[in-house]
Amino acid sequence: ASSLGGAAAAKGRYFGAAVAANHLGESPYAATLDTEFNAVTPENEMKWDAVEKSRNSFTFGPADQIVGHAQGKGMKIRGHTLVWHSQLPDWVGGLSATELRSAMNNHITKVMQHYQAKIYAWDVVNEAFQDGNSGARRSSPFQDKLGDGFIEEAFRTARAADPNAKLCYNDYNTDGQNAKSNAVYNMVKDFKARGVPIDCVGFQSHFNGQSPVPGDYQQNLQRFAALGVDVQITELDIEGSGTAQADSYRRVTQACLAVSRCTGITVWGIPDKYSWRASGTPLLFDDNYGKKPAYNAVLAAL
Ligand code: XIL
Repeated sequence: ASSLGGAAAAKGRYFGAAVAANHLGESPYAATLDTEFNAVTPENEMKWDAVEKSRNSFTFGPADQIVGHAQGKGMKIRGHTLVWHSQLPDWVGGLSATELRSAMNNHITKVMQHYQAKIYAWDVVNEAFQDGNSGARRSSPFQDKLGDGFIEEAFRTARAADPNAKLCYNDYNTDGQNAKSNAVYNMVKDFKARGVPIDCVGFQSHFNGQSPVPGDYQQNLQRFAALGVDVQITELDIEGSGTAQADSYRRVTQACLAVSRCTGITVWGIPDKYSWRASGTPLLFDDNYGKKPAYNAVLAAL
């Protein structure tokens, strides 16, 4: 195949990109998206501060724009994200435990029902674990007021809200085997044992010199898949350039293809100039939408 999405589809996978609604009017941006990708994740437009800035008042315009575009092209859509400590409006942190529980469940339900049957997979909970060796939960209004059970509650609410969507837990620094990924692994194992609804685990895969592609990346994806969930590479970007960057992208692509339950890869942006990284060139297309060596490596590996 001659595109990332086409080549991935031939292997039963998707190849997606994080998309910003305000770039869709830039014709080479939209053309590259439409030619190369068969899945999208709204980069910011479905986050809590974007859709429910004040309590129980929902704004779906920018997210709807991305969903409409993607549906028109037959692309899969990953919903990102329902419950996260970041990009969370201040009013949420000010609630009592009882009110927070009700606000969390209302948020999940209203957002998922708005997109009912349109979303392939939702990141129901994002980044709930701490970095480092403790394997502990990260402090957040949800964790601090509702305790460990907030994740389970969010997944149960999500299943009821849209039974068609796959429900994912998503995090970073969980790409190799370490204390943090072990903690997520144990949670997923417990959820599967107790019948808590979870269908997939997302591995953000933001890599750089300090945090390169782990040597045990594929084994780590495989051990999660063996728990009976799909795995997805959800926010891939790799700092660097040239052959070294291309080699890392190739390894990530090969790792996903080697794991039968790895259903797809999403890169966190299209051209380097729109990367969330303040500097550097972590994506597959240069600022003029030229294909980088990393692009060629991924396409060849698919
Ligand atoms: C980032 C976006 O790319 C930026 O535009 C925004 O300013 C901050 O969030 N982990 C996630 C993503 O789950 O939602 C983040 O996206 C990157 C880290």
